[in-house]
Amino acid sequence: MNLIIMGPPGAGKGTQSRRLGEHLAVPVISTGEMLRDEIKRKTTLGAQAKRHMDKGELIPDSLMIGVIEERLKRSDCARGFILDGFPRTVAQADALHKMLGENGSSLEHAVSLAVPNDELLKRLSGRRTCRDCGAMYHIIFDPPTNAGLCNKCNGELYQRDDDYEDIISSRLEVYESQTSPLLDYYRGHRQLLEVDGIGGRDDVLARILKRLGISQS
Ligand code: AP5
Ligand code: MG
Repeated sequence: MNLIIMGPPGAGKGTQSRRLGEHLAVPVISTGEMLRDEIKRKTTLGAQAKRHMDKGELIPDSLMIGVIEERLKRSDCARGFILDGFPRTVAQADALHKMLGENGSSLEHAVSLAVPNDELLKRLSGRRTCRDCGAMYHIIFDPPTNAGLCNKCNGELYQRDDDYEDIISSRLEVYESQTSPLLDYYRGHRQLLEVDGIGGRDDVLARILKRLGISQS
């Protein structure tokens, strides 16, 4: 199954994509994580991406489309994939449609998680991420057992550079102006599944699976 998980910053795309990826045994391709990894490895792409990410802006379509095109060619995507954070513009959505079509493939659904802005702000300002395995926590909603350390690998938890209030506001504005038009885009293609992203993580996953017509067992 080829899926997109969409939603504003903090909607739970990463949280739910990981769970869904395990459930469906398909790779999760997170453009945000890929870019943060490029920054960590100090690559040219990482340096270009950082300039935009630190301001809460999107990186240029041409760069992002190239990255995804290469990633989707890898053999692990043959049985399906989940895209977290791509596409984010109509140009990216058109490019994805073209890429898949050229391979005789297509997108099954675009799942959009709906969460109001006040909740997004709470989620993002309290998020902590493991430097080593990328596991996500929240200092109030999902705290680690030992403060500052990952439950899974004992790695150090850090606050993302773009999770400070002024940058969060820019990211929310960018979502409204550049990404939210994709809701109509996928609605028009009859691929949109809108899911309420409020509530516990398990409840949200159960709702997504139900909309996808997949049994939870
Ligand atoms: P990206 O990393 O994708 O960031 P984002 O879209 O802003 O979304 P987040 O990762 O912040 O939130 P999320 O929806 O994954 O929520 P999460 O599960 O972590 O992109 C970063 C940047 O990279 C962009 O700003 C842009 O510059 C660039 N970029 C990436 N893709 C691009 C593209 N295609 N084109 C151009 N530029 C691109 O959850 C958030 C918090 O809430 C966590 O603490 C979590 O524990 C908690 N939480 C999750 N679910 C729940 C729940 N149900 N209840 C309570 N708390 C919850
Ligand atoms: Mg994420």
